[in-house]
Amino acid sequence: MTDYGLLTAQLRAFAEEEGNFVPLLSNASALLYSSLERLNWAGFYLVRDGELLLGPFQGRTACIRIARGKGVCGSAWERDRIEIVEDVHAFAGHIACDSTSNSEIVVPIHGTAGQVVGVLDIDSPEVGRFTEEDRAGLADFVKELERWLRF
Ligand code: SME
Repeated sequence: MTDYGLLTAQLRAFAEEEGNFVPLLSNASALLYSSLERLNWAGFYLVRDGELLLGPFQGRTACIRIARGKGVCGSAWERDRIEIVEDVHAFAGHIACDSTSNSEIVVPIHGTAGQVVGVLDIDSPEVGRFTEEDRAGLADFVKELERWLRF
């Protein structure tokens, strides 16, 4: 089981030291990637010029731009809701950046005016890796992040 309370406290400690989004999102992706089991990718896409642009991440190289509504990330952005995909091969429009990904969770990140400013994307080689517990824990993690980002 992942201790999301501890991860969120560690994120807060990083943010208190430095609020700039580059080190903050870089350390956030490293925290998640090294603490959650059975992952092959963890990172951020940020809304820039009307599309999602690849941000800090851990894992293999990834797609650089994703259009609104496209793939799991673009869909979480458009619908403004957390997407859990048990089997990415059964998700119409899934964007396969890494062929070893089999399941995925994407959490929208909100800016100071409530708009979606980016997404947290986490991928696993295991089908059905992400549970309701991950949904709740990552929602809290992202809420903490939203307190510090100034987008
Ligand atoms: N699979 C994602 C694309 C991003 S990568 O997996 C890192 C999607 O369908 O949105």
